[in-house]
Amino acid sequence: MIERQLWHPVVASLQVRDAPLACTLLGEPLVLWREPRHEGEAGRVHAWADRCPHRGAQLSLGRVLLHVRGARLECPYHGWQLAGDEAAAQDAPVSVGRCVHVPADPAFVPPVGHSATVFEAQERYGLVWVRLSPPGPELPGPLNEVPLFEQGSDRAWRQVLCGPYGLQTSAPRLVENFLDLSHFGFVHEGWLGERSHAQVQTGQVLEQAEGLIASDCRAWQPRAYAGASACGTEGAWVAYRYAVPHPFAAVLRKDAALGDPVSNAIALFIRPDTDQSCTAWFAMATLGDSASDEALRAFQDAVFAQDRPVVESQMPKRLPIGRERPASEVHSPADRMSGAYRRYLSRLGISLGVT
Ligand code: FES
Ligand code: CO
Repeated sequence: MIERQLWHPVVASLQVRDAPLACTLLGEPLVLWREPRHEGEAGRVHAWADRCPHRGAQLSLGRVLLHVRGARLECPYHGWQLAGDEAAAQDAPVSVGRCVHVPADPAFVPPVGHSATVFEAQERYGLVWVRLSPPGPELPGPLNEVPLFEQGSDRAWRQVLCGPYGLQTSAPRLVENFLDLSHFGFVHEGWLGERSHAQVQTGQVLEQAEGLIASDCRAWQPRAYAGASACGTEGAWVAYRYAVPHPFAAVLRKDAALGDPVSNAIALFIRPDTDQSCTAWFAMATLGDSASDEALRAFQDAVFAQDRPVVESQMPKRLPIGRERPASEVHSPADRMSGAYRRYLSRLGISLGVT
C-alpha cells in the first residue's frame, strides 16, 4: 500500500507531552511519546506500534522514564523498559525500541528481537509526522518544501495552527474542496464569495510528478477577506496560488495587493483515518494581519463549519478518480484543478479514499 510510504500528520506537536499518547494511522495503532526536555530543548518524539513485544499490552498505558542512559518507555504490564535514544551512551549503545531492562529478572540481557516496532517520526509545521514504511523510489520526498511554514524561515510570518477537525469523508474529498474556488459564492456567501459574482478564473495548472501548482486563480471576494480581517468594504478579484505537494495536503497562498496589505498562506494537512473519515489541520502563515491568533482560528473554524455539511454530504465519500465506467461524476471547465488532482492521485497509485 503506497500510502504507508508517505509521511502523514498524526497529532499536534503540543499534544505530545510527558505521557505516552495513543493514536491510529491507516489502521495502525501507534504510541507517541516524547523524551523529557534536555538543556531547554524539547525532547525527540517517537512513534512506535502500540504493542509491547512481551505480551502485547498497550504501551500507551505505560509511562516515560528518565534513566541515566536516556529516556525509556515503560510497559504498564510487567514494567519492561524500552529504549529511546540511548545511542549516546558510550558503552554498548542500543537501538531505539529495544528492551533494556526486565524488572522480574534484572540480570537477563534481552536479545535484539525483544524490541518494539519503531516507525519514523519527525515534527514539522506544528505537527508530528509519521511514515510507516520506507519510501518507494517513485514517491516525492518527505513533504516537499512548504518554506513559509518552516520554523524560523522568516520571522515576519506568524504561524497559527487550526484544528484538529474530524470529518466523515475521505481525505481526497477534503483536498478537492480546498482546491475548489467555485463553491465560494454559495457555501461561503458573504465571507469568501458572492453568488452574484460566482464566476471564477481557474488560471494555469502545472502538473508535475512531485505535485501540482496552480497560479493566477481568481475569485471575487465580497470584502477582500484576508484571514480574519476585512480589508476594505468593496469587493475585489483576489488572486490565489495553489500547490499540492502531497496527495493529502494542499497549500493556498494569497499575496498582498493594492489596498490589501495582508499576505497569507494556508496549508491543509490531513491524517487519513479510514477510507471515509479523516482528521484535518490548517497551518496558517500570515504577514501584515493584525488579527489575534484566536481571531484567525475563529475565522478558520467558521469557514470550516460552512464546508463541513456539504463535504460530508458528498456521495460516494471516496473520490472518483476516473477509474470507474461509466464515470460517476461530470465536470465543467471550472473544475480544471480538481481534474488535475484526480489524475495526480491516479498517477501515484493512491488507493485510500478513492474509487
Ligand atoms: Fe509489556 Fe509484559 S506485556 S512487559
Ligand atoms: Co470552502
